[in-house]
Order: sequence, then C-alpha cells, then structure tokens
Amino acid sequence: MTSHQRRVHRQFDPRAAAYLRSEVHARGADLRLAQELIAGALAPGARALDVGCGAGHLTYLLAERFANVAAVDLSGRMLSSVRATARERRLEGVHTHEAAAEALPFEDGAFHLVATRYSAHHWQHWEAALGQMRRVVKAGGHGLFIDSLAPDDALADTHLQAIELLRDPSHVRNRSAAEWQAGLAAAGFEIVRTARWRVRIDFASWIARMRPPARKVAMIRQLESEAPQEVREALELEPDGSFMLPVGLWWARAGHLDP
Ligand SMILES: C[S@@+](CC[C@H](N)C(=O)[O-])C[C@H]1O[C@@H](n2cnc3c(N)ncnc32)[C@H](O)[C@@H]1O
Repeated sequence: MTSHQRRVHRQFDPRAAAYLRSEVHARGADLRLAQELIAGALAPGARALDVGCGAGHLTYLLAERFANVAAVDLSGRMLSSVRATARERRLEGVHTHEAAAEALPFEDGAFHLVATRYSAHHWQHWEAALGQMRRVVKAGGHGLFIDSLAPDDALADTHLQAIELLRDPSHVRNRSAAEWQAGLAAAGFEIVRTARWRVRIDFASWIARMRPPARKVAMIRQLESEAPQEVREALELEPDGSFMLPVGLWWARAGHLDP
C-alpha cells in the first residue's frame, strides 16, 4: 500500500456510518439516472463491479439488478458496513474485496458492468485505475463513471481543489470533463452518454462528515472569504461556506483491447 493509500484508509475507516447517512451520497439525481442506465445493461447471470464503493450506495442499486456485485474499497470498515447493510436489505449477491482501484484482484473480462461513484478524485493513479476497470470488463460490456468535476474556469478550479485538500488530505484531484473524455478513451471505453450537473454542498454537514481540524476549517473559510468575485460566482459560494459542486457522469461501452 502506498503512503497515499494509507492516508485514504485512515480518512475513510472511521467514517463509514457518516457516509451511510450522507444525503449527498444516499440520494441524488445521479442514482436515478444510474438506475435507468443499468436497467438497460442487464444480461442473465451478469456480474457488476463497484470501485471505491464507500458505504455502498451504488453497490445496493447494482445489487437490486445484478445477481453478483463485487464491492471494492481500500477501507476495511467501509466494507464491513457494506456487508452489514447488504445483509439487512437481503442483497445476497454482494461480495466485498479490500483492494485498490489501481490493482483490481479480478480476471480479465470478469464483469458485464464496471462502475464507480464519488471515488475517482481520491485515486493516486487515475489512468492506471481506469485501465484496470477496462481490463476487468468484457468487450461490449458497460462502464459507469460518476465523480466531482473540476470547474471549467482555472481560477475556480484551483480554489476548489485547495478547499477539498484542506478538508480531506486524501483528495487527489477533481478531473475536468475534457480529462474524463480523454482518459476513458485512452483506457478503451467508448462514451455513449454524458451528463453534468451541480450538487449543493452544505458546509456544516460536509465538514462534519470528514471532521478536519478547526485550523483547517478556518483556512477553508479564509480561502472562501478572500476568493475573487469570479470564483464566488463560479462556485455559487454562500455566506455560510456552502457551495455548488460540479459533478459528471459518463456511460460507456468497453471497446476491444489490442492483443
Ligand atoms: C466518497 S466515498 C465513495 C462513495 C460511494 N461510492 C457512494 O456511492 O456512496 C470514496 C471511497 O473511495 C475509496 N477509495 C479511495 N481511493 C481508493 C482507491 N485507490 N481504491 C479503492 N478505493 C478507494 C475510499 O476508501 C472511500 O470509501
């Protein structure tokens, strides 16, 4: 495990309950769209993979449709929470695996659908992880990718990444829509559908979920209060520190890989 991956582990292990309860993660327009897309991708006995499953909100949605769902995360406690919730909901096909997105412990072409939601901005080796997701999905299978996005404006992007890193030292970066487009194509996915929207981040609950030290919260508030007008507008900053986070979804088909 790399030093960054140990940091992800430290950050997320104590927060499984908070992520299970989180409104941003448990609900959202993206889950409704995901449900619709997944329904069109079913095959008898199909297997699905959720990378960076966290408290498992996408895993449960997949498990309602797929007989077998592999939930992967670096955090053992997130995975225990997923097992407990899957048992409660009688979702018997959920299996958990403690592993990194960059080194998926599955055979080539093992899945009909590979998915990830709100995890990729923590991946140290994003291109390698996308390559792994492509390796483990069958040619002609599907990929679903959902994550926070870098704003198009460079100044707003720098402010957002700085704020995210202060709140959560396991943040690597929100990629731009152009980076996702290029990264997925380079990994061997053909994009079928994309969607972009904004999620309101309520400052108090966003901070309570990760519990950064008070001095970091003060630094975030200072960065926000000193932000130029263009940044305030781009992030729709509110007086209490709440803001609008850009989010993107990509629905893709796995192309054939060169031998
Ligand atoms: C915000 S949570 C994910 C939310 C979840 N997918 C959902 O839909 O509610 C991010 C998760 O990504 C996991 N993670 C971060 N980097 C990872 C990596 N390189 N490999 C596997 N999991 C990773 C973290 O441990 C954490 O549980």
